[in-house]
Amino acid sequence: MRYNKRTHTCGELRASDAGKHVTLTGWVDFQRDLGGVIFIVVRDRYGKTQVVFNPQNNSQLHQQAAGLRSEDVISVSGKVNNRPDGMINPNMPTGEIDITAEELTILTKADVPPFAVTDDVNASEELRLQYRYLDLRRPALQKNFLTRHQMYQITRKYYDELNFIEIETPILMKSTPEGARDYLVPSRVHHGKFYALPQSPQTYKQLLMVAGMDRYFQIVKCFRDEDLRADRQPEFTQIDVEMSFVDEEDIYQVTEGLMKRFFKEIKGIDVQIPFPRLTYKEAIETYGSDKPDTRFDLKFTNVSELVQDSGFKVFADVVKKGGVVAGFVAPQCANYSRSQLDLLTDLAKKMGAGGLVWMKVTADSVESPIEKFIGKEVLLSIKNKMQANVGDLILLISDYWMKTYTILGNLRLEIGKRLNLLDDSKNNLLWVTDFPMFEYDENEKRYIAVHHPFTSPKLEDLGLLDSDPSKARARAYDLVLNGNEIAGGSIRIHDRTLQSKVFTLLGIDEEHAKKKFGFLLEAFRFGAPPHGGIAYGFDRICMLMTGEKSIRDVIAFPKTTSAMSLMDESPSEVDEAQLKELHIKIV
Ligand code: AMO
Repeated sequence: MRYNKRTHTCGELRASDAGKHVTLTGWVDFQRDLGGVIFIVVRDRYGKTQVVFNPQNNSQLHQQAAGLRSEDVISVSGKVNNRPDGMINPNMPTGEIDITAEELTILTKADVPPFAVTDDVNASEELRLQYRYLDLRRPALQKNFLTRHQMYQITRKYYDELNFIEIETPILMKSTPEGARDYLVPSRVHHGKFYALPQSPQTYKQLLMVAGMDRYFQIVKCFRDEDLRADRQPEFTQIDVEMSFVDEEDIYQVTEGLMKRFFKEIKGIDVQIPFPRLTYKEAIETYGSDKPDTRFDLKFTNVSELVQDSGFKVFADVVKKGGVVAGFVAPQCANYSRSQLDLLTDLAKKMGAGGLVWMKVTADSVESPIEKFIGKEVLLSIKNKMQANVGDLILLISDYWMKTYTILGNLRLEIGKRLNLLDDSKNNLLWVTDFPMFEYDENEKRYIAVHHPFTSPKLEDLGLLDSDPSKARARAYDLVLNGNEIAGGSIRIHDRTLQSKVFTLLGIDEEHAKKKFGFLLEAFRFGAPPHGGIAYGFDRICMLMTGEKSIRDVIAFPKTTSAMSLMDESPSEVDEAQLKELHIKIV
């Protein structure tokens, strides 16, 4: 079919173009018949433009336009006119003009779409994912992908300027130990053997340091078979970085530089560097999270000392057993009714708490259901230590260290939301440092690596590996933005003896280590430089940059929370012949 090619995009024409003869191509956004005159709006990635078909100018053309429906693909030529005063649409960048149609070609007729392609779409997410290509036509989503594109370009330019080189690493590889389940790919050639899809290129980037590449980066797909949430996908993108002859400070500096550029170039915002830092312990004890949302305070106070000898057995027992009694002040919430407090207690219980103790600060005293056990004096000392004011509500939790703070962390977020304290105009970036090396896995009855098994312990904690591994801290760090973990990394072990020791602590014996990571340990025999790195969650950063609430909105073809692609219906069954070739039987 012959048709006029576009002279302009649908977002381009302004009053200064009046009088020009132009051609636009795109999709019919909508068609409206206003008593004879037909208006259509034609849309492409760049914007929307109004076109007018007047029967008095050309009745055949007008008739053709009467048959246009939403999502038909057209080429339309005509003359640009300034709209008369009162007809100007200030909400549309092309709103000063319209086009008097002179020629129309319908390039493809569209069926009635399952939902209207508009930003105030009211279709379910399932339907939108099923017809993702229609969903992606919506200007709001197209804008997200422009931001994502910008992020790729900024990243490549930034790391290139700093002498990093971009290197691709394999997708079919040996399983990496990042802690999630692997996606496996059966080998046809090697009967009974499997590749794993990378949970991250961790081992490869370390090998690239052994290879002398010095500074590596890659924008790379990673695959993890884990439970999904709004900020997790089974395949997601990292900016993966590794550097030789560095310590934590070098990684922080380079990472802060990229974040600064993202904010400046995408949002025009100057973020302050260096970013604040909190140790893991401080983050947990102050905010109850290793990814604290520091846009608001509601910080915790430990009151264990004040209550350990009190008559309130619940508190005294917890402290005796090495636990913690701590809490925070919910400002001006003392007017909570009894039933509101009961609901809050239920919520805390759902979060795993044995109970929730509340105290109301009144004009002349404090009120609390535990007064009869603990006495007014202790209550007042708690109020004073927590610097609570008249009208405030104090919430206290008592349990072992991690549990107390985790529950408080969740309650803090809940109260923060209720009090509208999560200010979307703030961009609070911070480092969380000094993570523990290990955490004890009750199911497996062994230590597991909090970051990954190649993470170096802090040098001053090396002795603890022998005496009390649970207290050893790692040279690991996370970058947090408004309560989201957006990057994580560590300084690695480059010494074979130390690596073996860490493997032993993780219950990985020599034979197992050799089988799983023999290639890495072997490489370390031939001169490994001290090295470290970081990986950013690209989708998460893009989600936060675009103000979306789900990473699905910044991934072109995402999976649902049950790891399905509704559009192409994957995962799907495969032919018997394919299975046979792979020596696989479904049982
Ligand atoms: P980590 O496992 O912390 O580190 O991952 C780095 C960052 O990737 C993002 N992320 C995810 N994003 C979307 N969906 C997921 N399922 C998902 N899982 C992780 C997070 C996270 O901070 N190899 C190490 C890095 C290193 O040590 O250098 C690693 O992968 O934003």
